[in-house]
Amino acid sequence: MRIDIITVQPGLLESPFSHSILKRAQTKGLLEVHTHNLRDYSNLKHKQVDDYQFGGGAGMVMMLEPMVNAIETLQSKVQYDEVIYLTPDGETLNQKIANQLSLKGNLLLLCGHYKGIDERIRTHFVTKEISIGDYVLSGGELAAAVLVDAIGRLIPGVLNDETSALLDSFQDNLLAPPVYTRPEEFRGWKVPDVLLSGDHKKIDNWRHDQALERTKARRPDLL
Ligand code: ADE
Repeated sequence: MRIDIITVQPGLLESPFSHSILKRAQTKGLLEVHTHNLRDYSNLKHKQVDDYQFGGGAGMVMMLEPMVNAIETLQSKVQYDEVIYLTPDGETLNQKIANQLSLKGNLLLLCGHYKGIDERIRTHFVTKEISIGDYVLSGGELAAAVLVDAIGRLIPGVLNDETSALLDSFQDNLLAPPVYTRPEEFRGWKVPDVLLSGDHKKIDNWRHDQALERTKARRPDLL
């Protein structure tokens, strides 16, 4: 999978993709992430990318031309399955959307700043709008990093033990069950006997029951 990201703050995206699982995905050749500085696509003085909004009001708006220039330059080289704008008024990201996007070949992500991007970009180029939650970030970069992480770990071959993504919270609309590791007992706090029983059928049933209970208690809306 190839993911291109257009941003005015490329520095904000350096760290998330150079560690852990996303780094491994790229080393294995399963994921390519390219960031593009929007300012490089501005033909204006001082590489301007934002301007006052028509109608007045506080806050700048990201201009049409540099963004269109960037999108069309990239589209002339790569055929994108989706052009995604990260925005608090988009569809809220969930595991189902992450699963669907992990099956795509090429994605183009647009990060907004200030008051957002000129609406005509959304109308004419954007195919999907995603929010990572009901709160406002300073820009779309951290949201893009969250989205790429959620998608990247689902690409087949990225996780060592592929079943581990299948047992994640939300994969079957259930939260994940509790997990334990050594020691078996610490300060009198014991690991549930069933997990030490070696009976895999019993363990599977216990995990499912625990997942169900946890979901009922914490996120009944998922059931
Ligand atoms: N940009 C600013 N806030 C955001 C959010 N909650 N989700 C996605 N993009 C954003």
